[in-house]
Amino acid sequence: MSNAAPVTVTVTGAAGQIAYGLLFRIASGALLGSDTPVRLRLLETPAAVGSLEGVAMELEDGAFPLLAGIDISDDPWIGFDGANIAILVGARPRTAGMERSDLLAANGPIFTDQGAAINANAAEDIRVLVVGNPANTNAFIAMSNAPDVPAGRFTALTRLDHNRAIAQVAEKTGAAAADIARIIVWGNHSATQYPDLTHATVRGRSALEVIDDSAWVTDHFIPTVQQRGTAIIKARGASSAASAASAAIDHIHDWVLGTAPGDWTSMAVPSDGSYGVPEGLISSFPVTCSRGEYAVVPDLEIGEFARTRIDHSVAELVGERDAVIDLGYAKRS
Ligand code: NAD
Ligand code: LMR
Repeated sequence: MSNAAPVTVTVTGAAGQIAYGLLFRIASGALLGSDTPVRLRLLETPAAVGSLEGVAMELEDGAFPLLAGIDISDDPWIGFDGANIAILVGARPRTAGMERSDLLAANGPIFTDQGAAINANAAEDIRVLVVGNPANTNAFIAMSNAPDVPAGRFTALTRLDHNRAIAQVAEKTGAAAADIARIIVWGNHSATQYPDLTHATVRGRSALEVIDDSAWVTDHFIPTVQQRGTAIIKARGASSAASAASAAIDHIHDWVLGTAPGDWTSMAVPSDGSYGVPEGLISSFPVTCSRGEYAVVPDLEIGEFARTRIDHSVAELVGERDAVIDLGYAKRS
């Protein structure tokens, strides 16, 4: 039994697929540890509130010792009230015939409103993770509409890509996932991302030396990680859900409780200009976390191949940023 005050965690899209995996793990203590009670604030669209009530009943039936309460709302102004952590999963999905630009436009109003509601009502220590796609740019919109919240509190999920990269290296080398460190995912959570093994290690040795197969890296590893989301949609008929929920848990867990000594992780965070990424753009970087703060790993050597790949993904993010600025959903920082 813990005497600590509950942490308020707001989850949007709470009746959806990802949330169905996420909420039970948050309630079990996987997000913030077994000493920290959580109060869940669940946000949905009006049409999905009925279904969300069923999810809330199931959460109650889990009899989780750390679950200090559940609130349901379809109003972001209520849903983010007092939130310490906000996981923004709900987004307008891409439907047949929709271009990426249509997706940006459809999500603009959602993340504009949610950014404003976070700005007005969240707790002072609010930390935001955007999962709903296009995640980096949705996070950019929310950040832009929350001028009183430090920009660095807005992040987007590339931990799933990071975990996918670890899984590929584990399969290739026969090592356990826990033996693999210092993977990097750069750029956008999209097919342009650059999963980078240059600095990665397997049981402390250079991953590239252990793998010793540069064709595998360029012709298999990179495209497999980049296209994994699409491959899962093709196989399941729906986008990744449990693995996305697991990665969201990993992202917030490490942000709040710290990365493992000697390792780092990948998070999409507002650029401070590091590695030639324009300031303010929410792009994936290698980061270490300690005492609730993250820091971009400095001074890594970037070769010509990496430079081209990073620039390509960053150019896509710049295009998305400019499109949502032109649509009036965000401001140039
Ligand atoms: P889903 O359709 O099952 O659930 C989404 C839920 O969001 C729905 O219940 C919907 O009613 C709700 N929603 C929509 N607009 C909302 C709003 N304004 N406020 C509150 N709720 C709202 O989808 P899912 O499988 O849970 O995926 C959610 C998002 O996550 C999608 O955009 C998907 O592409 C994305 N995703 C991201 C990653 C990543 O790594 N970043 C991985 C997988 C999926
Ligand atoms: C994923 O990486 O699995 C998802 O972002 C794919 C998607 O388009 O929902």
